[in-house]
Amino acid sequence: MADDEQEYNLPVITAFSFKGGAGKTTLLALLGSAALVSGYRVIFIDTDGTKNLASWHEAAVKNDLWPENAQFHHAQDVESVIQIIDDAYDSRSADLVLLDSPGFATKALDEILGVSDFVFSPIQMSQPDAVSAEATRAWMLEYYDRLAEGVQGPVHCFVANNIKNASRPSMTERKYLDHAREQLPLVKTIVPNRAAMALMTDTGPLGELIKRQTSDDYKGQRVNVGHCTDLLKIAIEVMNDILANNVWEKEDA
Ligand SMILES: Nc1ncnc2c1ncn2[C@@H]1O[C@H](COP(=O)(O)OP(=O)(O)OP(=O)(O)O)[C@@H](O)[C@H]1O
Ligand SMILES: [Mg+2]
Repeated sequence: MADDEQEYNLPVITAFSFKGGAGKTTLLALLGSAALVSGYRVIFIDTDGTKNLASWHEAAVKNDLWPENAQFHHAQDVESVIQIIDDAYDSRSADLVLLDSPGFATKALDEILGVSDFVFSPIQMSQPDAVSAEATRAWMLEYYDRLAEGVQGPVHCFVANNIKNASRPSMTERKYLDHAREQLPLVKTIVPNRAAMALMTDTGPLGELIKRQTSDDYKGQRVNVGHCTDLLKIAIEVMNDILANNVWEKEDA
């Protein structure tokens, strides 16, 4: 029991970005999908007023695609977030918390980061994204400065998202990738542009979607299961990168 006590851990990973539409909610759903497929008990918490994660959960329930090892909460305030995490920790009822944060600086955001172990910011390869990613990073560094002495803030990284061909980025994508690798803690795994992302967003966790697609009695429209499986593999790599802070170093570039 005592050993067990030491081993139990409940990492909280938060998606955060000042740039709207960079893929916060989508990547959170993707990472959660991968963790659920691996059998982890995942708590999703939506603290974003746009409630996109909540809509995703609703769609999944409607489609009968919300798995038993997933929990969803929409939290109105930080106290509720803390309560959900504390309850899960005390009852050991989850292995991972994924939190969608509001994309603007508020006192609540400070407190949400205060309960986070890891924070990731999606970044797409465009001029506006490059500019706002720098603002996001600068804000994060100021946040670290605001912390009381001895308090450790969450580990922050960026995830390159929505690249057309991840193994052969275009010239423009390459330009922004190089810039991000130089300027930001950018994780090594790149998330490609995939139609399966929109399908996941509209329908529910990717693993459940694959299960349904490959079941014999499924009569609906078939999707490219290979692409979905591929995305899950990428998501596992991204998750490992975030947890290990596996970011580009100058000598890697
Ligand atoms: N890798 C990807 N491939 C294809 N589509 C993607 C990808 N990443 C994001 N998208 C699409 O981009 C759109 C915006 O993504 P998303 O809603 O996750 O962004 P967000 O950062 O959460 O935005 P908001 O600021 O509104 O919360 C969605 O329609 C999503 O399906
Ligand atoms: Mg969102």
